[in-house]
Amino acid sequence: MNLNNYISELIEANQGWVSFASFMHEALYHPQLGYYASGLQKFGPGGDFITAPELSRFFGMTVGRQVKQVLDVVEGNVLELGAGSGKLCRDILSSLESQGRLPDRYLILEPSESLAHRQRELLSELSPQLFERIHWLRELPEQFEGVIIANEVFDALPVHILKFDNGETFERGVCRSSEGFSWSDRKLSKEMEALAPEPPSANSYITEFCPAAFGLMNDLASVLSSGAMLIFDYGYEADSYYHPDRVSGTLMCYHRHQADTFPLLEPGEKDITAHVNFSLLAHAATDAGLDLIGYCNQAQFLVNAGITTLLEEIDPSDSAQYYPAVSAVQKLLSSDAMGSVFKAMCVSRQVDLTMIGFTDGDRRYRL
Ligand SMILES: C[S@@+](CC[C@H](N)C(=O)[O-])C[C@H]1O[C@@H](n2cnc3c(N)ncnc32)[C@H](O)[C@@H]1O
Repeated sequence: MNLNNYISELIEANQGWVSFASFMHEALYHPQLGYYASGLQKFGPGGDFITAPELSRFFGMTVGRQVKQVLDVVEGNVLELGAGSGKLCRDILSSLESQGRLPDRYLILEPSESLAHRQRELLSELSPQLFERIHWLRELPEQFEGVIIANEVFDALPVHILKFDNGETFERGVCRSSEGFSWSDRKLSKEMEALAPEPPSANSYITEFCPAAFGLMNDLASVLSSGAMLIFDYGYEADSYYHPDRVSGTLMCYHRHQADTFPLLEPGEKDITAHVNFSLLAHAATDAGLDLIGYCNQAQFLVNAGITTLLEEIDPSDSAQYYPAVSAVQKLLSSDAMGSVFKAMCVSRQVDLTMIGFTDGDRRYRL
């Protein structure tokens, strides 16, 4: 069966309509047919999109400095969610090794079998002393101490779509039509009505809403007994997320580095993402008993945590190394590229620290 047929049957079995979150869940995570199930390359120049760890090893090396500071006081391990190609794990472990602070275990929770396989391939090239610390999990541990890392994971969680129209709120879902999959709006279910945010001021407005992000945050909060969670992703605070100009939401698809806004076309063939609402995510964390100890632009985090110091360690006369490294770091820091729409957030339990990554440019007041 192909994914189109599978989703069509799902729609039929559900009286002709499924939420966009169900559609997105199948499109990305169907265990055999979803986008993340296929063995095709997703990340980097030969894939569909590029993430910070793919752009430069200096991202992971810098995150490693922040991780070390937490491990110095918590003495725990590292748990990475959705580890992509494995490069972030490789770079954080190398950084921790060079700082003399290797954890006993570096855990990876990766729902995609095919990505976990790729990660194993890449990471098996590390020295045995690093590789033996890496363990793949199928589910969260019951309890965890240390540092949890999620880079571009929350933007990949299935979202519901809400449509606000002249005082009424609808959920935008998916049905079948002669042209394939089509949008179809319904009155909100009682369950969604209880969860949905207040309507924005504009009369006609479409936005995404991600209860799965609160669910994941709750799950993580319940296992984190002491330590910190570092979240890197693109997104906004609530007032920017619901900015009156953003009337059609933030949903984007990526295929071969081309962006489009047609998620109902070719499900399973392309990535689908939505920007993260950091205000809602921060509130979910504090409601779950965590402390919000840092929030700033990703570029600011990287500068605070010493990315430029790391760059200084390369000899500028070694132009083959130096210029590509500088150019990639510039992309990480530039506000036109990854610098400002990407944010870094840290929530913690029982950690009394001034985190090196959040010393300047604090934006918690915006959440
Ligand atoms: C956009 S990719 C980012 C990959 C990688 N972190 C990077 O930055 O290159 C999203 C990743 O999140 C994973 N993912 C999705 N839902 C997840 C969940 N509930 N828990 C852990 N990982 C998840 C996906 O399988 C995928 O590896």
